Amino acid sequence: MSIKILGTGSYLPENRVTNDDLAKLVETSDEWIASRTGIRERRIASFETTTYMAAKAGKRALKQADVCPDEIDMILVATLSGDHATPNTACQVQEIIGADKAVCMDLSAACSGFIFALNTANVYIESGLAKTVLVIGAESLSKLVDWKDRGTCVLFGDGAGAAVVTKGTGIYETVMGSNGSKGAVLTCGERKLSNLLVDTKQELEQIKMDGQEVFRFAVRTVPSCIRELLKKAGLCCEEIRYYLLHQANLRIIQSVAKRMKEPEEKFPVNVDLCGNTSSASIPILLDEWNRKGNLSQGDKIVLCGFGGGLTWGAILLEWESNK
Ligand code: COA
Repeated sequence: MSIKILGTGSYLPENRVTNDDLAKLVETSDEWIASRTGIRERRIASFETTTYMAAKAGKRALKQADVCPDEIDMILVATLSGDHATPNTACQVQEIIGADKAVCMDLSAACSGFIFALNTANVYIESGLAKTVLVIGAESLSKLVDWKDRGTCVLFGDGAGAAVVTKGTGIYETVMGSNGSKGAVLTCGERKLSNLLVDTKQELEQIKMDGQEVFRFAVRTVPSCIRELLKKAGLCCEEIRYYLLHQANLRIIQSVAKRMKEPEEKFPVNVDLCGNTSSASIPILLDEWNRKGNLSQGDKIVLCGFGGGLTWGAILLEWESNK
């Protein structure tokens, strides 16, 4: 069983923030950020909420797919930075786009969120419970970042990406994993016990990260996850057209390419202009690559996410042209 991507869309906030802009805020430099991460600028929301960006990306995906909002059975939004605990982001997107028949839920798996959501869509489509699903990754991490911590504030950006999916005929394979015992290396948004029995000052916890530990996790886990995926699918590296990895850091992407002995040209990159947009990064990149006309009928592509949880996951799918 497989899914076909009928259309993609994305939205980036209007406001560009360069490394030089950040150097006015914390002790850092364009040279340090660019050489350690590959990031040169990122978009930061000035009026756009997570829901606003998710709905914009979703509408663009629907338009490209030529699918009406009332044909959508389900909206899945992967996010760790929704605007509310309830209503969830997916319900708010539903209201904006008018997808009245959709069942709506959010999914939290940090930077692996879009992969987990796409797999969830696949399972619902396979079971017959849904026919057409709008899958979105949307984040405004800027509201969760500690803007005094130079070790993290230079890394993240805001944005959203989306895909409309339905039953397909090509190859579809996946590998997913989680390791809760390593959760402490990347945390955010702790909601402490606070009630009539416990007097705790409630403050939203900002992003905290052991950067080196996360780096080591990524460069070890991503290649082994993709190798396992290819083995499951009975394919070799040479048969893969593109690897669309979560855009956390250029050095991670280069290291994965090297460890897999694959040319860097097979790994599209936009982390230089977007920073790390967590669950939004893969669908934003997919939309860019799709709209540039780089994906053709029958291309086998790998999508791979990794991040907080810890979580990771990869999907191999065969591109089916909608024309
Ligand atoms: N500008 C200038 N100096 C900075 C800095 C910044 N923005 N951030 C940290 N530094 C300093 C540190 O304070 C430290 O200084 P010290 O040696 O005087 O103590 C020095 O640079 C080295 O810090 P370190 O944390 O060891 O740097 P690093 O080489 O590991 O690079 C990351 C830091 C975050 C870029 C790197 O660890 C990384 O990319 N990790 C993965 C993060 C990631 O992708 N997370 C999301 C996964 S989904």
